[in-house]
Order: sequence, then C-alpha cells, then structure tokens
Amino acid sequence: MEFKIALVQFNPARKNVDSNIEKITALISNIKADLIVLPELANSGYLYQIPNDLRPYSEPADGSGPFLSALKKLSKASGGLIISGYAELAGNQLFNSAVAVSPDGVIENYRKIHLFADEKSLFESGDQGFKVFQWQGVKIGMMICFDWIFPESARTLALLGAHIIAHPANLVLPYCQDAMITRSIENKVFTITANRIGQETLGEQTLQFTGGSQITAPQGKVLYRAPGDETAIHTTIIDPLQASDKTISPRNNLFEDRRPSMYHG
Ligand code: ACM
Repeated sequence: MEFKIALVQFNPARKNVDSNIEKITALISNIKADLIVLPELANSGYLYQIPNDLRPYSEPADGSGPFLSALKKLSKASGGLIISGYAELAGNQLFNSAVAVSPDGVIENYRKIHLFADEKSLFESGDQGFKVFQWQGVKIGMMICFDWIFPESARTLALLGAHIIAHPANLVLPYCQDAMITRSIENKVFTITANRIGQETLGEQTLQFTGGSQITAPQGKVLYRAPGDETAIHTTIIDPLQASDKTISPRNNLFEDRRPSMYHG
C-alpha cells in the first residue's frame, strides 16, 4: 500500500494563534498527502507562567475554534489527515493535546499523559488514555513529546494496533530522536516525530527547541531527519502495512513472545 506522509517543522509564535495559522497555511497549503504531522502546541507556543495566560490561546476539541477550523480547511486542500499539537480548553481545564483533523472535521483527540517539567503548572495530565483510530485503512496512534521517555506509551499504541505513531513534539532534551529509533524497532511501527525549532524566553528561563524532526521505519531505519534549526517540510511514501508484521526471527514474534506475567517488580 502507498501512503504519503508529510512532516512539518517550524517555529510557532507565542500568544499569536493567527500568525501560527498563517505560517502553517503558507507551509502546507500546496502539499497533497494522506497524513501531515505538525509540532506540539502549534497554536499557542510553549512557555506560559500560569493557566490564565495560556487560556486565550487555547480552544475546544470540538473543532469550533480558529485553529482547528483552519486545520479542517487545510485538510480539505491536502486531501488527507492533519495531526497537530494544540492547547486544548475543556471547560476551565487546559490539556496539552494532539488532534487528528480530516476534511470532515476532528476525528480523534489525545491529551498528553506525561507532562514535562513546568507543563505541570499549566495543564491537567491526560485523562483519556492512548487511542488508535483508522484512516484510509491505516491505524494511527498519537503521543506527544515527553511521552517518548516512557516506553509504555509507544508500546500501548502498538498493542492497540498502530501502524504509525504520530508524535508532535517541542523537544528540549537531546535524547528523543535517537530513542525513537528504538521505539520503532521494539514495536515495529513507523514513527513520525514533528518537532519545533526556535527559542522561547519567559523571565529567567530560556528554552532552545532542538528540531531534528524524524521519520523512522519499523526496522529502525531513519527515513528522514530534519536540520536542528531550520523550517523543514518533508514528504515521503511509506507502506504502513509493513508494521503489521511483528516477526523478529523465525521463532520470535514481538507480541506473541511477550511475558507480561513476568513483568512485575
Ligand atoms: C516536552 O514534552 N515538550 C519536552
């Protein structure tokens, strides 16, 4: 099966949803792809002091806000699904979420389960678990940035049947890109890490985001790695169904050989 994927790396602005919509539109409005993956918090940027500061730049998961409406239009133009990180407003609560938007609107929403550092002052931890959904016959799961360091995240998505793990990110630690090679190998899945670039400063704190967005195949081959500090778009064609085969050797299968009864501490 041929499935065209696109990864987008850019520098989301803080406190300016319109500018981020404009940037994303300029980057992807001419791309035809079955799946486009954008970074974490692509509507809002990253650093905020308190939830009240972020709330004006967040929106509900039902697709009624400006950012998800724009993604729906872009999805129609691309003919495919768009997955993006965004700040989600649910009642009065904020979640660091990833959304899958089709030409018909939102089809899935994931709330980041493992919050990193000061995200704990802004967001609630995800409360709905990991999810896998089907798009054009392909099973797709979402996780966000720091979820990578818990192997359980990718494992759960793989056990739910994911062929592709879409992984919006705002990475600041240097380990993830290499670790995603292992995540792909140990689960035999495609992973698409769409990271951001640039720097944000708030008070005494400055964060440098590491770029290096990456597409990794089930055998661990890096199909693409973006530069560390440049806007980048990369499209490639994969066969997601390769990820259905969990064979490691004639006598080993990644899932059938698991021994969960032995995994207690
Ligand atoms: C991160 O989870 N944004 C580092």
